Amino acid sequence: MNIAVIAGDGIGKDVTAEAVKVLGALGQMSGWKPTLEHLPWSADHYLKTGETLPANGYDLLKSFDAVFVGALGDPRVPDNRHARDILLGARFELDLYVNYRPVKLLDSRLCPLRDRGTQDVNFVVFRENTEGVYVSVGGRFKAGTEDEVAIQEEINTYKGVHRIVRHAFEYARANRLTKVCMADKSNAMQHGHALWQRVFKAVAADFPGITATHQYIDALAMFLVKDPGQYEVIVTNNLFGDIITDIGGALQGGLGMAASGNIHPGRTSLFEPVHGSAPPLAGKNVANPIGAILSTALMLEYLGHVNEARKVERAVAQAVAEGQTTSDIGGSLGTTQVGDRIVEIIRR
Ligand SMILES: NC(=O)c1ccc[n+]([C@@H]2O[C@H](COP(=O)([O-])OP(=O)(O)OC[C@H]3O[C@@H](n4cnc5c(N)ncnc54)[C@H](O)[C@@H]3O)[C@@H](O)[C@H]2O)c1
Repeated sequence: MNIAVIAGDGIGKDVTAEAVKVLGALGQMSGWKPTLEHLPWSADHYLKTGETLPANGYDLLKSFDAVFVGALGDPRVPDNRHARDILLGARFELDLYVNYRPVKLLDSRLCPLRDRGTQDVNFVVFRENTEGVYVSVGGRFKAGTEDEVAIQEEINTYKGVHRIVRHAFEYARANRLTKVCMADKSNAMQHGHALWQRVFKAVAADFPGITATHQYIDALAMFLVKDPGQYEVIVTNNLFGDIITDIGGALQGGLGMAASGNIHPGRTSLFEPVHGSAPPLAGKNVANPIGAILSTALMLEYLGHVNEARKVERAVAQAVAEGQTTSDIGGSLGTTQVGDRIVEIIRR
């Protein structure tokens, strides 16, 4: 198992150290040894060298079995050029079209909603990851004047929409789930999202055992707060998926709890916590490493190490149940102590 590790910026470095610790412990216990290659790509590296990633950077990433990323984003790089090249670039260049974001509440006391518990928050979001408004098609005319025109196009292709919608249904079937909800804004975005409507209906017809529903994204945002228990699988576009998975993070107890995979089935894929680099918390041993550690579980599962993945998830659940956590979810441990505790539980 060859894994590229990009710790990145801010708390990305803090949480990646804990994720690496967990991988190391699992490797020792199971007899397989993951080979981790640490890549320095980050704001520091960019500011020092002027290079966001090397010319062969994406090919290099493709030579690994998987890529693990901490977080990217640094106020010293105001346009976040390095983060765009490294993270968005990898999503596009490795064609990681599935953004897989499980939303699972591990302990009812972490839920910010009144009278809701673990039985109400357990669903997955599939966010389209290679199109939408993130493709950077557009431009500014008369920038900086009162006549400025700013255009940011949203790209939806049949291929792009079809493959993510199909993936959501296939995931539901493989995991014995019975509900897939597609969210768009087809009432206002009558061209691009008409494509989502057409494709969703056509794909749903191939999965007769699965109830396919549609909600406008604004209604879905409301229902995520009011009645999250109605969802099993949600599929949506790049921008809406980005936004609603932050709501998902909050439902799990906070952004520090949320894990994700950027996947092209069968190819090198990239795993990262949902949160960003949170610069004010960086280097203070306060960042919650659980989202990063759970992202290693997603990576292990993707690479076929299902037992190890379950071990990590169970250890995290136990640490949370014991309150052995960072302060953002009510504990009093530091980042490194949470990692140590999770490793200790895994070793047992
Ligand atoms: N995938 C990524 O690398 C990614 C994702 C989002 C944002 N970013 C970048 O990160 C930088 C900061 O962005 P932001 O502040 O909007 O989002 P953020 O996710 O870094 O932080 C948002 C809030 O959540 C809290 N938080 C996040 N992760 C946490 C953790 N592990 N433990 C405890 N608390 C945590 C922070 O304190 C902050 O209040 C920006 O440069 C942004 O572009 C990167």
